[in-house]
Amino acid sequence: MFIRKRIQVPINTEYSYRDGALACEGVSLYDLAEQVGTPFYCYSASLIQRQYRLFADAVAAMGGGKICYAVKANSNLAVIATLSGLGAGADVVSEGEARRALAAGVKPGDIVFSGVGKTERELIFAVEHGIGQVNLESERDLEILSAVAAARGVTMRVGIRVNPDIDAGTHAKISTGKAENKFGIDIGRAPAVFARAATLPGIDPAAVAVHIGSQLLDMTPYEGAFKRVGSLVRQLREGGISIRHLDLGGGIGVPYRGEAKPDLADYVGIIARTVGDLGCDLTFEPGRFLVAEAGVLVSRVIDVKRGATKTFLVQDAAMTELIRPTLYEAYHPILPVEQAQSSALEIVDVVGPVCETGDFLATDRALTPLRPGALIAITMAGAYGAVMGSTYNTRPLPPEILVSGATWSVIRERQSLEALIGLDRIPAWLERRGID
Ligand code: LLP
Repeated sequence: MFIRKRIQVPINTEYSYRDGALACEGVSLYDLAEQVGTPFYCYSASLIQRQYRLFADAVAAMGGGKICYAVKANSNLAVIATLSGLGAGADVVSEGEARRALAAGVKPGDIVFSGVGKTERELIFAVEHGIGQVNLESERDLEILSAVAAARGVTMRVGIRVNPDIDAGTHAKISTGKAENKFGIDIGRAPAVFARAATLPGIDPAAVAVHIGSQLLDMTPYEGAFKRVGSLVRQLREGGISIRHLDLGGGIGVPYRGEAKPDLADYVGIIARTVGDLGCDLTFEPGRFLVAEAGVLVSRVIDVKRGATKTFLVQDAAMTELIRPTLYEAYHPILPVEQAQSSALEIVDVVGPVCETGDFLATDRALTPLRPGALIAITMAGAYGAVMGSTYNTRPLPPEILVSGATWSVIRERQSLEALIGLDRIPAWLERRGID
């Protein structure tokens, strides 16, 4: 089916058509594809910097706070280094992410170690590397961290992550603040947990942490959550526990579907109203907001397959490169890399070659008609894109490119099939059987 509509236009100034091809800042994605092959991820350093400044300015206007980039959104060392160069700390959820943050130059004291379950090895890592704050979500982790820290003669700053039972109103798979979610300690039980923490050696339970979910465009749910956190802090202080830090998590969304941008002034206004009088140092853990819009996934059309009821644009990228569409019904705007010559649009499903019906990047999408060999950019893919990649169907992980002005650099090599297959071992007893 062909329809006529407005030609799609990029939504950010960092991505624009230059000489007929979509460019990331000063670098043509067409040229990049020639050089590095497809599929690949490309990130704009300037867009990451712009988003960071937007966030940092909003926080500064409210009196300041520490921004610890949630590394899980995009943990490439160069991306972390871009943000830490601007003054960001890091929010990490595993030893691996902590090592990445340290390797990218983040100071240990500027790292918050969050996460729903930590192994003893990870807690030892946090203690031995002087991680600034460990956010705990269970009494078991609290007891172990206390033992590990006390045995080494150090005291760790601890945040207790509370679950405020607030509906973030986002997709079920990325809402974390409801009572039925696995995250945090029920806010009603928090005073007892803090009281226990206060008796343990090696622990300074100085922080309350909260994160209600991800991709919030409406700031209202924060109001309810932060109000509850504020009441908890007052209650704890009355009970003699001196809370000095608040970790307000992340969750600010981006307009994947062209919605209004999140109102950061509204966000910080809510914070000022609900917890501003407590005199606590504030920490923020934005992930998606800082990096989502900066990234595109570039892929090549392998085939245009006309089915009985649908047309499939088969790509060399798949759910293995970007799982968000199939996992969360997520929408990523798609642009042709070569500028469309006409305003004709065709309704297609954009799919990958993986043997799964769920392997799609977009369904029922109006795109300029494309031929095999054409390139597309799946936009707003800088957050939870590359990091959620898999090698299913023995597909190597794609390369990542960082662009700054007219300069670009491969910040992650394409995984080789040799490296991927080479991790496997055939046991000797099987090899022997092969010889018999
Ligand atoms: N802090 C904590 C404790 C978190 O669990 C998260 C995200 C963040 C901060 C950062 O949230 P953000 O600012 O990026 O919304 N894979 C999903 C998103 C999962 C988010 C998990 N936690 C997606 O692709 O939408």
